[in-house]
Amino acid sequence: MRRTIRAFSYAFLGLTAAVAFVSLAGAQSGTASPKAALTYRPVGTLADIMADVIMPEANVLWSSVEVDVTAKGTVKKEPKTAEDWARLRGAALTLIEMANALMVPGRQIDEPGAKSEAPGTELSPEQIKKRIEENPAVWVGFAHGLQDATMQSLKAINAKNADALSDAGGTLDTACEDCHLFFWYPKR
Ligand code: HEC
Repeated sequence: MRRTIRAFSYAFLGLTAAVAFVSLAGAQSGTASPKAALTYRPVGTLADIMADVIMPEANVLWSSVEVDVTAKGTVKKEPKTAEDWARLRGAALTLIEMANALMVPGRQIDEPGAKSEAPGTELSPEQIKKRIEENPAVWVGFAHGLQDATMQSLKAINAKNADALSDAGGTLDTACEDCHLFFWYPKR
């Protein structure tokens, strides 16, 4: 993770974000005003949310169904108890709601001074911020893509269907990669 020194910036709350939350407010049955969106209080950076919430919770889903083929035979790991399924449901709901968190305006991309670990390939936090501001509809589209993909996992979990949950893992992976390819490492 990136933890060096960079100029502090609240500037993300620009035209882009305004457009994003006006359209969000509009989607909520007309009762919410754009002003209501100003009550959001983002705390984690985008990098924090990715590394410390989204990645671990996605891993809970991805590692829930596994087939190990060894010399001694095939060992299948899948959720069994009510607790197993409840934990998975929590992971799916966390990802679905984190997709909403990704659309909250004013969130920093990374700690001040953070540098790209692969400058030639990955965009810097400043470049990512600019790209989001310039392409708000694309950003929201990928956040919705994460929600839609995780809804597939949630349906499988609600139906306690391990095979469908395993299939949904591939859809989820694509939803992550689609956004990363556009906003994180477009030159890869
Ligand atoms: C709406 C866009 C979007 C979606 C969807 C998305 N990501 Fe990200 N992710 C980003 C961006 C942009 C970065 C680069 C931020 C940074 O680290 O500066 C990133 C960075 C990351 C990082 C590195 C964080 C760090 O700096 O240590 C991980 C890990 C990650 N994402 C995992 C995931 C996983 C897993 C999923 C899907 C379950 C996912 N992301 C979905 C946009 C997205």
